[in-house]
Amino acid sequence: MRKIYIFDTTLRDGEQSPGVNLNMQEKVEIALQLEKLAVDRIEAGFPAASPGDLAGVNAVARAVKNATIVGLSRSREQDIDAAREALKDAQDPCLHLFLATSPIHRKHKLRMEKHQVLETAEAAIRYAKKYFDKIEFSPEDAGRTELDFLCEVTEMAIRAGATVVNIPDTVGYMTPSEFGNIFKTLKENVKGIERIQLSAHCHDDLGMATANALAAILNGADQIEGTINGIGERAGNTALEEVALALETRADFFQAKTSLKLSEIARTSRLVSKLTGMVVPGNKAIVGANAFAHESGIHQDGVLKEKTTYEIISPETIGLKESKLVLGKHSGRHAFREKLVDLGYELSEEQVNLAFAKFKDLADKKKNVSDEDIRAMIEEKLVETPEVFALETIHVSYGNRSVPNAAVRIRTNDRGTVEEKAEGNGSIDAIYKAIDQATKEEVELEDYSIKSVTQGKDALGEVHVVLRQGDYSAQGRGVSTDILEASARAYVDALNRLIEKRKSPARSKRDNVTLI
Ligand code: KIV
Ligand code: ZN
Repeated sequence: MRKIYIFDTTLRDGEQSPGVNLNMQEKVEIALQLEKLAVDRIEAGFPAASPGDLAGVNAVARAVKNATIVGLSRSREQDIDAAREALKDAQDPCLHLFLATSPIHRKHKLRMEKHQVLETAEAAIRYAKKYFDKIEFSPEDAGRTELDFLCEVTEMAIRAGATVVNIPDTVGYMTPSEFGNIFKTLKENVKGIERIQLSAHCHDDLGMATANALAAILNGADQIEGTINGIGERAGNTALEEVALALETRADFFQAKTSLKLSEIARTSRLVSKLTGMVVPGNKAIVGANAFAHESGIHQDGVLKEKTTYEIISPETIGLKESKLVLGKHSGRHAFREKLVDLGYELSEEQVNLAFAKFKDLADKKKNVSDEDIRAMIEEKLVETPEVFALETIHVSYGNRSVPNAAVRIRTNDRGTVEEKAEGNGSIDAIYKAIDQATKEEVELEDYSIKSVTQGKDALGEVHVVLRQGDYSAQGRGVSTDILEASARAYVDALNRLIEKRKSPARSKRDNVTLI
């Protein structure tokens, strides 16, 4: 079977999703999980975009040993130099250069003629070739580029030294047959095409990203670019888990496979969702909560008789295991440790002790503690943010005929423990006003979402918030059996992250760099 290379751009195109802003630790956390998933290439960021992006790419380059680390760069020397700096510690670095080629982009964005596009891209590739063995070149908006010009651009890129030519459907405009035809045409007409790899990069504006990526594979693409859970600019990118499972499940048809460790998919999806705050819809293919749920009686009856009647993929394939060990109040440390191993966590002794104490608290409030509860509890503090504020207690008074009020006690780094009370339009408004007074931070609440981690009245609630303060924004998560407490925790978590960003210039917000 033909091997299809997987190029993950969760940390670059995925991070361009509105509202997503990962800090350096979070990027490394995701990159290490992508390494476990065994992706071939990780695009870690766009180093010239901001000092924070450069530092993030560098941190990933230092942490990851078993994947090529890629940095994005416009076709200009300053960007290439920033990427050199960011990738200097990578074991296997790759530069990803791009320049738009479509008539719309040439006319309105670049204001360049075709020959200028060719010259600019060629000069950039030749300059980069002095420093990088591996260079990927992307003719941005290739989908809407004249096919003969795209062949000319690809031939130039190969001559100049590119090792991969990536074909982006930047605006998600293509249909599968049109997109497949681009690959077929390049394969048949471009001199030297056998010396490089061809890659596909699709966006999902018309819901065809996965279909287009698969059409590219059928027509000769060697590499697929995409993100976990399909996050990315606007409607997102190709969801890599969908491509991987399509190739696995329909190997008879595609005759191609990836090297992904499929059993890491569920864990990777959860981590990306948690750290980006982008909730995976229940009906999302492969990783949605309902992807393996059978609701109708006829389906349930069929599955009970023989799974394959309605199940084309088994949940175990992507790492969803039915747990045999249910934990509760009487479970001891040994059973808890076994469960952690079973769920794939590798924790230090100190972390196990902390997690066990949290588990005991939870088991006091919930009869049965499910795998999802344990994951939510452990992953809540997977990435530590230095705490400026810590929520100690919260008290809320609510009645449908009275004004809700809240009292909070917050431990601060510099002013000891502070207590404040406030009234609000609702309980959460009152809590957030009291926290604002206690922390003396002025922030805007940009986004608030809540979901339950498991089923049942005693389910854990998970709250996600995005806070903004001037140019800075940060997200925060909170988990508790009580949604008001989860809301307060998420808010305080986001405040801590905001302050961390404000303090560290290397993590300043992305400059307003246009993709030109
Ligand atoms: O969608 C796109 O065109 C891109 C390029 C930078 C490859 O993300
Ligand atoms: Zn893209």
